[in-house]
Amino acid sequence: MTVLSASLSVPRRPKLLLVDDQPINIQTLFPIFSADYEVFMATTGAQALKVCANQYPDLVLLDVMMPDMDGHEVCRQLKANPATRNIPVIFVTAQDNPENESLGLQIGAVDFISKPVNAAVVRARVRLHLLLRASLEQVQLLNEDLEARVSARTRELEGALEQLRASQDSLASSEAKATLSLLVASVSHELGTPLSNSVMAASTLAERASDFQGLVEAGAIKRSDFTAFVATIGEGTDLIQRNLHRAHELLGHFRQVAADQASEQRRVFDVAQTIQEILHTLQPSLKRFPHRVTLDIPSGITMDSQPGALGQIVINLINNAYLHAFDHETPGLLTVRVRLADTQVHLVFADNGVGIAPDNLSKLFEPFFSTKIGQGGTGLGLAIVHNLVVKTLGGAIRVSSDLGHGTRFEIELPQTQS
Ligand SMILES: Nc1ncnc2c1ncn2[C@@H]1O[C@H](COP(=O)(O)OP(=O)(O)OP(=O)(O)O)[C@@H](O)[C@H]1O
Ligand SMILES: [Mg+2]
Repeated sequence: MTVLSASLSVPRRPKLLLVDDQPINIQTLFPIFSADYEVFMATTGAQALKVCANQYPDLVLLDVMMPDMDGHEVCRQLKANPATRNIPVIFVTAQDNPENESLGLQIGAVDFISKPVNAAVVRARVRLHLLLRASLEQVQLLNEDLEARVSARTRELEGALEQLRASQDSLASSEAKATLSLLVASVSHELGTPLSNSVMAASTLAERASDFQGLVEAGAIKRSDFTAFVATIGEGTDLIQRNLHRAHELLGHFRQVAADQASEQRRVFDVAQTIQEILHTLQPSLKRFPHRVTLDIPSGITMDSQPGALGQIVINLINNAYLHAFDHETPGLLTVRVRLADTQVHLVFADNGVGIAPDNLSKLFEPFFSTKIGQGGTGLGLAIVHNLVVKTLGGAIRVSSDLGHGTRFEIELPQTQS
């Protein structure tokens, strides 16, 4: 507002065009304006149009009744031309004729002055319309400035949003690495038992073999020693075989999960098998708690998509249930149910834990929303899940909760990723 009033004034020596076929009328008007205006004159409509095109006057005082081309026609042509459309026109008319005046207004005049003109009145009217036009131009300028500022701000915000998206993607990839190292830790822990069992059995066998060799060399061997030695070898190799088989099995599960986690590879996979493999690799950390995960997944549902992304979703939702839904004394239950409907795979993760307050429900997928800030939670798990479901796999996710009775995440994924 201050800007507007401060710079609002009639341009210095504005250009004024006087149009009248009677030179005497022009002579009357001329001295009224000559001191403050640069005055142009025309005695025909055609001349008036020419001056307007060349000089672009700030205002035209236009006689109505003229031979050849009357004032109305001049005004129509001025308004039809984009270059002269904004020049204000005031008709100077001899008749006091309301119909004539309303026609003039319809074709774009801003005002009327009756002849004979009163010098003070005509000066005041001209000045008023020049001020009006100046203020309109100012408002237009302010609008343009505002539009420019709004679009600059929009561009800035778009840039910031883009950065946010990029950092979310990089968070997602660091989360993928974190998931991978969690898997590495839990599998190496799990492999430890069968491998150390095997090492122990092998060293016991080595001891027995060296004892047996001693007996053989001393020639003191009895049939019963021989039978006992064969039995020990049998038990030992059996133990070693079972433990190595278990280790091999674990490695098999792990290899697929790790490969899927480490790549963004798309392949055809069996949903039940993939989720089972993930659950296996999580077992070492989950079995410390009394809770259970039940899988209700018909075999034979396949997807052509990214199993690594699905794995991360499953891991985050299982971890969240164990961390947030259940207290550590009461055994909780998480059910993972999968169904194929048409070409959509429908997954439900439902726990019977504490549930989520309605106020928190709407913020759940926002990055950094966590009720465990300062206790190990960063609030990124569900933001990443949302990102993976929607952006990576092209699906949708919903959450609902009955406070005190549990939480339910429902995910729809296209069976074939587009
Ligand atoms: N199954 C659930 N039951 C109850 N509350 C949940 C459940 N899952 C998530 N929440 C709530 O949602 C919040 C956000 O979860 P999110 O996975 O995004 O973050 P976080 O688990 O706190 O931290 P992060 O996953 O980054 O380690 C949690 O802090 C918790 O309050
Ligand atoms: Mg989490």
